Amino acid sequence: MVKLVLGIQWGDEGKAKVVDYFASGVDYVVRFQGGANAGHTVIVDGKKFVFHLVPSGILHPKTSVVIGNGLVIDIEAFISELGELAAGLPVDGRVFVSNRAHVVLPYHKLMDGAKEESSSKKIGTTRRGIGPAYIDKADRVGIRVGDLYQPGLKEKIEHAFEVKRHLLDDYYCIKDLPSVDEMTDTLYKQAETIRDYVTDTELLLQNAYRDGKSIVMEGGQGSLLDADFGTYPFVTSSNTTASGMFAGSGIGYIPDLRIIGIAKAYITRVGEGPFPTEETGAVGEDIRRLGKEYGATTGRPRRCGWFDAVIGRYSVGINGLHEIFLTKLDVLDEQDTIKVCTAYELDGKLTDYPPSTTEEMYRIKPVYTEVPGWKSKTFGLKKYSDLPANARSYIEFLEMQLGRRISYISTGFEREDVVIR
Ligand code: IMP
Repeated sequence: MVKLVLGIQWGDEGKAKVVDYFASGVDYVVRFQGGANAGHTVIVDGKKFVFHLVPSGILHPKTSVVIGNGLVIDIEAFISELGELAAGLPVDGRVFVSNRAHVVLPYHKLMDGAKEESSSKKIGTTRRGIGPAYIDKADRVGIRVGDLYQPGLKEKIEHAFEVKRHLLDDYYCIKDLPSVDEMTDTLYKQAETIRDYVTDTELLLQNAYRDGKSIVMEGGQGSLLDADFGTYPFVTSSNTTASGMFAGSGIGYIPDLRIIGIAKAYITRVGEGPFPTEETGAVGEDIRRLGKEYGATTGRPRRCGWFDAVIGRYSVGINGLHEIFLTKLDVLDEQDTIKVCTAYELDGKLTDYPPSTTEEMYRIKPVYTEVPGWKSKTFGLKKYSDLPANARSYIEFLEMQLGRRISYISTGFEREDVVIR
């Protein structure tokens, strides 16, 4: 069976822990979109691992990991991550990189940063060059991993960089630009370091599926950051929803695909953009402190707020979710009462569906149902019957709101801190 696990809010739903949980004994864990903008933290036996590009399944010694064609890869970051992993884990023969994935070049990062610095309408990107690399892909001037092994790389970079050089220099006034020769030489060298990992990953996955191997597909970011269905333009530049898996992995149609949505028991967002249930006061600070809500990639404090069932239901639909994995329930252990947004009020009218425009999203007033907190420790609990009655009521209320079963509940950092229902 192939499992697809993806975040159904604005990212940081605890995907790495969930993937790590499902990856045990699995043959392949696959990423299919995004790049080093993702930050995945996994804690095993008290040791913290942070991944940006390599799927977190690498921590299971019998699992191979695949970086699919849908990613934009910062090769330098990839090599450094591999180096850190290789210090404690065998990586050779377990890591596969698509020759069709695109490469993030130094000027993509410069463009990302320069645009963020100078724009009056900031997105709050991670500045990892993700958007500019996907722009080159769509513009058909991108450099793909396979190109690094062919002559003519320099001409390709020259062609892609032509206009951006002027933009960076003349418009953004960035003078210290990398030369095409420098970029070409560095990439040719890096290409040799990663040569053994590069392959036709779509074929590898098609064969693995045909041979009955188990596969976990790991979505990056979250559904509300999807380029089509997210809170555009405050989104990332890839399809983070279920459809992105097909385009970004090439595995083909899978009749027995199981799609598991990961939702935090509350919500966070990093970067700019609408967030109807955001709590900017003491409650938000409390959640941030207790949930350690700081970005794994940028260290930025995350914006925190209450669970939003409107976007939850929306995510169920756009992803075709089968079930839900609820994370960080224990962070709410101290709350007297807990709010759940069950509908939106927009310009005096009630709606249970998110509007398509940012302007409308900013005008939303959340309609809340308040439920009593449980005021006791759920941290580390592993049996549903051991959860306090009010915690169970909260979970069952969310289930009713989302129309999907919450089959798993995470109650702590460690791999084993999971309640299975
Ligand atoms: P970009 O992906 O760096 O272009 O950033 C676009 C938006 O997506 C910004 O709001 C980022 O904060 C957000 N974003 C990107 N990656 C992540 C992630 O892994 N977790 C949460 N938010 C993310």
